[in-house]
Amino acid sequence: TASFTIAIDGPAAAGKGTLSRLIAAHYGFHHLDTGLTYRATAKALLDAGLPLDDESVAETIARNLDLSGLDRATLARHEVGEAASRIAVMPAVRRALVEAQRRFAAKLPGTVLDGRDIGTVVCPNAPVKLYVTASPEVRAKRRFDEIVAGGGSAVFDEVCADVKKRDERDMGRVDSPLRPADDAHLLDTSEMSIEAAFQAARDIIDGAL
Ligand code: C5P
Repeated sequence: TASFTIAIDGPAAAGKGTLSRLIAAHYGFHHLDTGLTYRATAKALLDAGLPLDDESVAETIARNLDLSGLDRATLARHEVGEAASRIAVMPAVRRALVEAQRRFAAKLPGTVLDGRDIGTVVCPNAPVKLYVTASPEVRAKRRFDEIVAGGGSAVFDEVCADVKKRDERDMGRVDSPLRPADDAHLLDTSEMSIEAAFQAARDIIDGAL
């Protein structure tokens, strides 16, 4: 029997992470946050003092990445996210990470992968694809509240500008730009609680299982 894959894509801070974890727990599926694969590659370069603009160095790091040890807490830093989105434009890096992500996607009984290009490139045959969005202002507000709740400080306008800049880079790149797959279900969470989004996702998934 084949693995059942749920592909979840969308821009930064749209709620895909929370939603993906809830879905994976509910169905007993393995979960891979593919953003962490880009972040871990970037952090390894930063930690080793290696340049962020050398594609073959970044590819070597990406090829040797161990997917089992990825942890968002150690990869959450803003600089790591910035560096991740820079190396994510490199085709050789993407090829290496996509191969690892596809191996993960084959795990039984099923998998949830979330990222930017899961429904379009990594798992184009996934039986369920969700494209989770929210307006840039709502996403910036969520990010801002998260920072403040964590005891940090931030300026809302800067967080908002940052969210928009990340969108531009993710949607504007030539290799695997962020966009909904033709057969993706759109889920705009701007006016939705996480519970409501989870319910909507379950309705879609249950209809396909
Ligand atoms: O989602 P997260 O912010 O952790 O991702 C970090 C960066 O990695 C994103 O800004 C994006 O550029 C890149 N990424 C990607 N493809 C994915 C997941 C993340 O290009 N499937």
